[in-house]
Amino acid sequence: MVTYEEHVPLSEEDVPYYEDVTPGSGCLPPGAWLPGSDAARLPLGGTWRFRLSPTAASEDASFARPEYDDSAWEELRVPGHWVLQGHGAPAYTNTGYPFPVDPPRVPDENPTGDHRYAFDLPADWPAGSAALHFGGVESCARVWLNGSELGHFKGSRLPHEFEAGSLLRPGRNVLAVRVHQWSSGSYLEDQDQWWLPGVFREVELRHRPEGAVRDAFVHAEYDHRTGQGTLRVDSDPAGRVTVPELGLELATGESATVPVEPWTAETPRLYDAELATSGERVPLRIGFRTVVVEDGLLKVNGRPILLRGVNRHEFDPAHGRAVGADVMRRDLLLMKQHNINAVRTSHYPPDPAFLALCDELGLWVVDECDLETHGFAQQGWRANPVDDERWTPALLDRARRMVERDKNHPSVIMWSLGNECGTGRGLSTMAAWMRERDPSRPLHYEGDPGCADTDVYSRMYADHAEVERIGRRTEEPLPDGTLDARRRGLPFVLCEYAHAMGNGPGGLSEYQRLFETYERCQGGFVWEWIDHGLRQYTADGVRYHAYGGDFGEEVHDGNFVCDGLLFPERVPSPGLIEYKKVIEPVRFEAVGPDGAPGAVRVTNLQDFADLSALAFPWSYEVEGLPVAEGTLAVPPLLPGESAEVKLPAPPEDAPRDGEALWTVRAVLAEDAVWAEAGHEIAWGQLPAAPLPVPRPWTPSAAPRRGTDRTLTLGPGVFDATTGVLSRLGGSPVTGPRLDVWRAPTDNDEGAPWQPGQRCGPEWRRIGLHRMRHRTDAVTAEGDALVVRTRVAPAATSLGFAVVHRWTSDGAALRLEVAVTPQGDWPAPLPRLGVRMGLDGDLGAVRWFGGGPGEAYPDTSAAARVGRWSLPVDALQTPYVRPQENGARIGVRWAELTRPDGTGLRIEGEPHYFFTARRWTSEELDAARHTPDLVAGDRVWLNLDHAQHGIGSGSCGPGVLPKYRLEAAPAAFAFTFRPLE
Ligand code: GAL
Repeated sequence: MVTYEEHVPLSEEDVPYYEDVTPGSGCLPPGAWLPGSDAARLPLGGTWRFRLSPTAASEDASFARPEYDDSAWEELRVPGHWVLQGHGAPAYTNTGYPFPVDPPRVPDENPTGDHRYAFDLPADWPAGSAALHFGGVESCARVWLNGSELGHFKGSRLPHEFEAGSLLRPGRNVLAVRVHQWSSGSYLEDQDQWWLPGVFREVELRHRPEGAVRDAFVHAEYDHRTGQGTLRVDSDPAGRVTVPELGLELATGESATVPVEPWTAETPRLYDAELATSGERVPLRIGFRTVVVEDGLLKVNGRPILLRGVNRHEFDPAHGRAVGADVMRRDLLLMKQHNINAVRTSHYPPDPAFLALCDELGLWVVDECDLETHGFAQQGWRANPVDDERWTPALLDRARRMVERDKNHPSVIMWSLGNECGTGRGLSTMAAWMRERDPSRPLHYEGDPGCADTDVYSRMYADHAEVERIGRRTEEPLPDGTLDARRRGLPFVLCEYAHAMGNGPGGLSEYQRLFETYERCQGGFVWEWIDHGLRQYTADGVRYHAYGGDFGEEVHDGNFVCDGLLFPERVPSPGLIEYKKVIEPVRFEAVGPDGAPGAVRVTNLQDFADLSALAFPWSYEVEGLPVAEGTLAVPPLLPGESAEVKLPAPPEDAPRDGEALWTVRAVLAEDAVWAEAGHEIAWGQLPAAPLPVPRPWTPSAAPRRGTDRTLTLGPGVFDATTGVLSRLGGSPVTGPRLDVWRAPTDNDEGAPWQPGQRCGPEWRRIGLHRMRHRTDAVTAEGDALVVRTRVAPAATSLGFAVVHRWTSDGAALRLEVAVTPQGDWPAPLPRLGVRMGLDGDLGAVRWFGGGPGEAYPDTSAAARVGRWSLPVDALQTPYVRPQENGARIGVRWAELTRPDGTGLRIEGEPHYFFTARRWTSEELDAARHTPDLVAGDRVWLNLDHAQHGIGSGSCGPGVLPKYRLEAAPAAFAFTFRPLE
C-alpha cells in the first residue's frame, strides 16, 4: 500500500505555492470531527476586513503584520464568499474549466482576497497548544497569525488546521488569510456548480490541552443474528469510554459486546457516550450498524436496503455554500418529510454538522470526496490529474481529510472517491488507502465502468431499459471477462438519475417499479436536491434567481445549474411532491372487483421499521366531496409484509350520481423529530363505484346568422367568416383554436449529448411555435355549426385538418373537435388541445380532477383526484427559467370565476389537462427569468386532450415511449357553461 507520506511531489517547475501540485504545507494531520469537547474554543467568524486584488501576483505579505492599517479595507462577513458580497462576481460552468487547461498553472487573472481579523483572546484562554481550524476555504489559503506564517492549503471543502498555540498573545491577535480563487486545486474541483471563492465554513481556535484527543475512531458494529453491538473506540492518546445507557465503561482500544438497538435510517438509534483522555472530555453519539456487500447486495444489519435518495450540494440562494445550521436542518427536515432516506453529498464532504444531523434524523449517506476533473474529458482525459502520480499526494490528502473527519458517523454507509474524474492510478491509490483505514464501509465511484476500485456498480442517467437489464444481471458485458464477472456480481445504484431541471423529472414511477422488482437495483439519488439560482432583485425590487451567464461570464452553462427538486428559496417543486409519492414507504392497492373494492392491500415497503408509528385515516368521497371518514385498523406490519384490510361498507346516504372514491392515507400517529403527528407519508385512491354514465347531451338550439357578420348559437357568438367564437355568455372570448405548442421545458430542449431526445429544437425547426390557421368552411349542419380549418406551420406540408362541431342546449355550448394530422410528422407533438383567451377578471379557479399541483403524463403520481381551488396566479409554477408549467391532469370540470361568482364552467370528455395563465405560451417561451413574465389583461386557457410527457432529457433519457404524444387522429369534446 502506498502511504500518504511516501508520496513526495515531483516539482518540475518553479511555480508559486498556489500552483504547485502539493496539497499544502504546515497543516496538522487530519483527525475526526469531535464537536462539544470541554476544551476551550473560540469561534472566529464575524465581520472581517477584506481587500480584493485582480491577480495573485503580489508577494507583499505586509498586510499580515498585526499593526498593518486596514482601515481603508472593506468589510466582509466570514464565513462567506466574497463574490456574493459585492466583490467580483460568481461564475457558473458545468464541465469546462473557466481558465485555460494547462495544469497545474492558472491564469494571472486570479482574484485574490486578503482577509484580516483582529480578535481578543479571552482573558481565561488557557496556555499551551491550540489548533487554528478552517472548515473550508475555496480554493487556496495562505495563513498568518500575528505576522507569523503558518502555511498554506488547498482542498476547498475539507478541513485544515494549524498549530497556533505559541503564536497567541494575551489581548489582541490578528489572523491574516490570503485566498486565491484559482490554484492547482481548482483542477481537482471541477464540479458542476458556481465557482465561489472565499472562507465559506467556520474558522475556530481550539485549545488542545496536554493529553487532548488528537483523533478518535468509533467502531460500532451490529450483529443482526444475535442482536448484539460491539463497540471499540480507538483514540490517540488512549483514554476511557463510557456509555451510560449500556452500562459500558471501557478503555479505548478495548471492545465490548452487549445487546443494543441498532442504528438505521428508519430507526436512528444513537447512544450518548463520552471519551475521556487525560486532557479532554469529548461527547460521542454512537450508532451501531454493519454495512456489507454480500450475495451481490448492499446490506445494512443483514438486510438489503433501498435508497430513496437525492444528491445534495450545499447551497443557499444568498450565501452560496456558506450554509448555516438552519439551512442544513431545513434540508433534512424537508427530505424526511418527503420520504427521502438517502443523501449523496455531491460532490464533496458537506459541513460536518450536516452529517451529525443525518445521524440524528436518520438518512443513509454516501460521503463523496472533494474531487472532480471532468473538464479533462474535453481533451480525451489527457493530463488527467487522477492518472498522474505527481498529483497523488493531493488526491490522498483529500481522501484522508474526508475519511478522518467523517469516520464516526453511523449515517455514512459508503465512501465515494469523487465524481467524474475518468479513471486513473491515483483513484486506485485513494481507494487502497481508504480500504485499509476503514474496512467497514464499501467504496463508491461512478466514473470507472470497470468498477475496479468499487464495491457497488454505480451509474448515472441509465435509461429504464438498461436499468432493467442490469437488474436482471444481463447487461452488456465488459470487454474484460474477469472484471465483467466481478461487476455482474455487484449491487447496482443509480448515483444520479431523474434530472430535476425545470419541469420534471418524468418517469420516476417506472424507475421505482424497477427498483422494487429487481433486488440488485438498490435505488438511487435524484439529480439534484436544490436549484442553485442566486437571489437577485430587479431595479424595482422584484426578486428572481440568476443562473449562468447572468454575471457576464465568458464561458458558462446557463440554467443547467438550476436542476433541483427544491426551488432556490427551498420551496418544494412539483418534482419533489412527485418523488415523495413515488417513493412512499407504504402502498395501498385495491382488492376486489373494479369499482367495488371490498378491501385494501397495505404493504410496508420499509426495510427496518414496522408500521406501528402510523395511523390510517380513510375518507369516502363523491365528486371530490367527503361523505364519510374514519380510520382503518392496519396491523403493525413488518418490513416487506402486506395485509388485506377490509374497507367499511360505503355510506348508505352517499349520493349515487357522482364519481365515488376511497382515499386511504398513512400519517404519523405521533409527533416525530422531523414532522408532527398527522404528517402524511403515503396515500392511495381506489374507485368506489363504476364511473357514472355522462348525462346525455341534447342540442336544442340552432345557429342563427346575425346582421353584423356574426353567428349566434345558444350563449355563443361566432365570427361568421372565421368560425371563431368571439363572445360567450355575454363576455368577449378569444378562440378556442387548435393549439399544439408549449414553451419547451428544459427536458424538452434536451442535452447536446442526447441528440435523439431534443424535442424543443425539433419543434422549432418544424415551426410549431408559428402555426398558421386557415378557415376552410363555416357551415350550419342541422343543429350544429361546423367549422373546418387547417392548422399548419410555414415552409412544410405538415399540418392538421380540424373539424369543430359546435352545438348548444340553449344554456351551454359544446365543442367537439376532430383532428387529423397531415403529412409525415417527424416528432411527437408538445400538446394537443385548444387555446382560448378570457377576461382577466376570471381570476379564481375551482376544479374537480387531479391536483392540487401540476402534472403531466409521466409526472402524475402525486395528482390526487379531488376538488381544488386556486387563484390563476397560484396555478403557475415559477421555474427559475420560465417554461411550460401548471397543467392540471385528469380534469373533469373546471370553473373560472370573477369575485361576484359569475364566470365559466368547462366540462371535458374525456378528462382533460387544464392550464390557465396571464400570459401566452409565446411570452412564456420568450421569458428568461421570472420577472420577464408580465400579466396581460387576458387569462389564457389551454384545454388539452393530451400532452407529451416530460422525461429527463435535459441530461438523461427522454420520454418513455408510452408517454410520447405522437401525431395521430384524435377526437375530444368540451362543454362551456356560462355561470351567471
Ligand atoms: C452529472 C454530474 C453532476 C451534474 C449532472 C447534470 O454528470 O455528476 O454534477 O453535472 O450531471 O446536472
